[in-house]
Amino acid sequence: MNPFWSRIARELSPYVPGEQLRIANLVKLNTNESPFGPSPLALEAMRNAATDTLRLYPDPEATELREVLAAYYGVKPEQVFVGNGSDEVLAHAFVALLKQPKPLLFPDVTYSFYPVWAQLFGLACETVPLDGAMRIRVEDYRREVGSIVIANPNAPTGIALPRADIARLLEDHPEIPVVIDEAYVDFGGESAAPLIADHPNLLVVQTMSKSRALAGLRVGYALGNVRLIEALRRVKDSFNSYPLGRLAQAGATASVRNEAYFRESCARVVAGRQAMTRELIRLGFIVLPSSANFVFARHPAQGGSEFAAALREHGVLVRHFNKPRTAPYLRITVGTEHDTQRLIAATALILGHE
Ligand SMILES: Cc1ncc(COP(=O)(O)O)c(C=O)c1O
Repeated sequence: MNPFWSRIARELSPYVPGEQLRIANLVKLNTNESPFGPSPLALEAMRNAATDTLRLYPDPEATELREVLAAYYGVKPEQVFVGNGSDEVLAHAFVALLKQPKPLLFPDVTYSFYPVWAQLFGLACETVPLDGAMRIRVEDYRREVGSIVIANPNAPTGIALPRADIARLLEDHPEIPVVIDEAYVDFGGESAAPLIADHPNLLVVQTMSKSRALAGLRVGYALGNVRLIEALRRVKDSFNSYPLGRLAQAGATASVRNEAYFRESCARVVAGRQAMTRELIRLGFIVLPSSANFVFARHPAQGGSEFAAALREHGVLVRHFNKPRTAPYLRITVGTEHDTQRLIAATALILGHE
């Protein structure tokens, strides 16, 4: 604390990101990054963009990127908003759409940034408990609220809702903004993007950090009705007109154009998730059904916190969320085959298996 801090700075409880350690030989399965690199075409586009033109500001509208995304999703470029990671896009959505006179509703177990933005921007919020199987039940959201945000697949459970459930949620709430955060949708979820045409209150948010292996570039985007996108642009242009630099725009555009690489790396992650799940179950873990690039698993013999600490001793980093419902679990990112072998070997040692 310092006398120069504003009241806002004093009262914040900031989000705590996963550790980014600079220790060699560590198996890093704690921040849901891709174990495979970005598209080689994206890397080449960024190298080509690293020229003298960097002295010039980038296109504030990211026109080309928005055009390729619009073509990809079958919408108009005016229905696409891009930002510095989906965290920034979501933060703008909190201000532009979700802040309403009535409270914002989200699950009790979900992306832990939602309550942080709610606090920063002064939104009242209410939470809906996941059911006993850690699932979201859309019928539990039938109440009078100002707005809704749902991560689908949810984080950190990895469990996905079918598109039909999102459609039911939207039918129950035609009068309020609904944001669906699809950070992990490319690993087996069903995107709500096709529902945009019939639902002017739906904003779908996605990221290039996970399935496109560009977490280091910071590119996220939103798709929705032109009027919703306009609200996001109003907030963005009141905050930072140039959220995406020239390199980010070039790399992200090339990534969207390289569909074959994208499909292949998603398929590899899904195969890796299936292999990791099988091995964890063999070691006695209870693994929630994941449609993401991570699994959420608990072991009846050991608590999550001790397990995460023990894995760390073996050079394997996983994420643990020390809240009542999530405390027994570990969130483990799908890595390479070699990463999974190290995780499983360390786990077997910790559990005393031969
Ligand atoms: C559910 C969810 N939404 C959004 C994000 C933000 O991703 P980024 O800002 O890298 O696009 C994350 C990151 O972990 C996430 O788990």
